[in-house]
Amino acid sequence: MTAPATAHGLLSGLDEIAEIGRDTRRGGYSRHLWQPADLELRDWFAERAVRLGLDVEIDRNGNTWAWWGPRGDDAIVVGSHLDSVPGGGAYDGPLGVVSTLDAIARLQASGFRPTRPCAVLVFAEEEGSRFGIACLGSRLMTGALDADQARALIDPEGISLAAAASAVGIDPAGLGEDPAALARIGLFVELHVEQGRGLIDLDSPVAVASSILAHGRWRITFTGEGNHAGATRMADRRDPMLAAARSMLGVRDAAVASSGSRATIGRIEAVPGGTNVISSQVAVWLDARAAEDAAARDLVTEIEARVAEAAAAEGCTAVVAEESWSGAVAFDPALRDRLVRSLDGVPTLPTGAGHDAGVLSSRRPTAMIFVRNPTGVSHSPEEFATLDDCLAGVDALERVLRELL
Ligand code: GLV
Ligand code: MN
Ligand code: MN
Repeated sequence: MTAPATAHGLLSGLDEIAEIGRDTRRGGYSRHLWQPADLELRDWFAERAVRLGLDVEIDRNGNTWAWWGPRGDDAIVVGSHLDSVPGGGAYDGPLGVVSTLDAIARLQASGFRPTRPCAVLVFAEEEGSRFGIACLGSRLMTGALDADQARALIDPEGISLAAAASAVGIDPAGLGEDPAALARIGLFVELHVEQGRGLIDLDSPVAVASSILAHGRWRITFTGEGNHAGATRMADRRDPMLAAARSMLGVRDAAVASSGSRATIGRIEAVPGGTNVISSQVAVWLDARAAEDAAARDLVTEIEARVAEAAAAEGCTAVVAEESWSGAVAFDPALRDRLVRSLDGVPTLPTGAGHDAGVLSSRRPTAMIFVRNPTGVSHSPEEFATLDDCLAGVDALERVLRELL
């Protein structure tokens, strides 16, 4: 496994956490909610924040806040997340957290004092890698995810979110919409590594976000007949693995036919999962995205039709169930323009990736700053940002905070 490259020197936080949660199979990192790597990262963050004189608290939904100065409503809140996808890169999430801490350290060193409340906010389970729903912490805080539905979510080991919360000292009864936490957020800014080729093509180290694609996740369950791999003639089979395989090509074709849309099957689970066993059931998870809500919905309707056709062709049945949905986001234009102005006219950039800043945008003004990713690859160990570009990101945050605070 090659070590994921991190920036050095001023962004020492990335180096400090470089050994936490390494994924030995894929490379990169697997850091999932309330599992040992995530807990270690939370401790690291709290210790780092305390060193800067910040006051750390964990809210009812497991999001971590670090206050610079007195706590209060209508604060300038800046942050990101520390969890990862399976085998993710070093920058998605952590770059925003370490850059925020560095920007505050620089402001402190220059003698700057905020004139309104300010907090760093680290959201829980942004990637949805353990319980399946992305931006879990921000969805719970805003009430976008029902608390009962959240408590009942099950991880791949069969542990409920309620039980997992209890195990780390969070009262499951307290999960859910948190108006007090929301009131504390006057506006939210998230710095994030860019996840495609956007900034390579714009030839700029940083940009301000303009919009996020509509996106969602669906579980597709194919049911057939479990049977013996040797004793069952090919003509006698109802194999849900084949229904899934045919469907996957349909997913790709439907997305290609819908300009600008994206659809991915990144996860598959066969029951019971034996080499000499025809599966009885196969589940796949669909991630579908498009620029507009209606286009994403239409894409999924088209995929449902192709899935039904594929299942029927293999003598199987299929059920498509929505697990999460996020409408398209257009970031607050006034805040976006203010950031662009304070950053001397950097470009604006849409993104296909989901973010807590997107979820929060329905309730509070939010903005994002992207840092160039020269590989154009993300959710992979190949995700990268050069030290110079990371430092340009910290400069940008420092300037923005100086103006907002
Ligand atoms: C999160 O990074 C997502 O876009 O799924
Ligand atoms: Mn991500
Ligand atoms: Mn992220």
